[in-house]
Amino acid sequence: MRIKTVQKPDLSVDIGRLKLKNPVMVASGTFGYGREFEDFMALNRLGAVIPKGISLNPMPGNPPPRIFETNGGMINSIGLQNPGLRVFIKEKLPYLKELKTDLIINFFGNTQKEYVRLAGALDGVAGISALEMNVSCPNVKCGGIVFGSDPRMTCRLVSAVRKSTGLPLIVKLSPNVTDITATARGAEDGGADAVSLVNTFRAMAINIYSRKPELGNVIGGLSGPAIKPIAVRMVWEVYRAIKIPVIGIGGIMNGEDAIEFILAGASAVQIGTANLINPGAALEVAEGIKKYLLQAKVNRIRDLIGGFEI
Ligand code: SIN
Repeated sequence: MRIKTVQKPDLSVDIGRLKLKNPVMVASGTFGYGREFEDFMALNRLGAVIPKGISLNPMPGNPPPRIFETNGGMINSIGLQNPGLRVFIKEKLPYLKELKTDLIINFFGNTQKEYVRLAGALDGVAGISALEMNVSCPNVKCGGIVFGSDPRMTCRLVSAVRKSTGLPLIVKLSPNVTDITATARGAEDGGADAVSLVNTFRAMAINIYSRKPELGNVIGGLSGPAIKPIAVRMVWEVYRAIKIPVIGIGGIMNGEDAIEFILAGASAVQIGTANLINPGAALEVAEGIKKYLLQAKVNRIRDLIGGFEI
């Protein structure tokens, strides 16, 4: 009997109403505003681009140093530095919206009102495929993680934002909670189209010679391969707890890592820290996924989602 070989596997995936050409996105905050990476890769081949998160008003970020490398990862305490909505729309969006890939805008506010205003303002802007709400930044005092730590607050916030936008809404969850399935359910109940997880783990490092913190903000968020096994576990738990799609994030460095998240239940993945080590990493991940599908003789990536067997 002849085995039919798959020549060109179908990498397209659906994140609710959002249809992506492949499951590999670049995570917010690790890819600038896209243009910074144009010399390193064909941006149009990405599943989606997610630029650095924006707020209504400009934010200066935290005092330096803001990044510290650790074994198997890094700790960042950027503090959500961004130029604010007006400058983003005027100076960054024109380039981004010309790309032939989906554009997902990550955003956040200090208050519910700010989240709602920002989502409403982005709703009418041409060229945006979806929104990703950050309720999980560990590096700011108000907003963000405050909303993402309590499932009822997450639900209330998502439901308020839901009413202000018709765009597909992804909620980016924090791993710094006792039970991430509870906040995922809060996001789902509030009307999210998908959840993305995980953001970084609260972490710190001490310089033993100066006896001072390695980061200006003392505490930051850990990302990179060191967190991958925890992130895979959380994706699997959330996949089983909710019905909306899950986007996996956490230390993905290559195609095999991405496949692991997809088997655990992720419909798509975001590449973060790897972009800072190898600016071409995201497309290499997409190639690695394709290679796996060819070797495993699987026609469609979507057939692997949640395919983990115990
Ligand atoms: C930051 O800007 O501090 C990182 C963003 C985040 O962790 O959500």
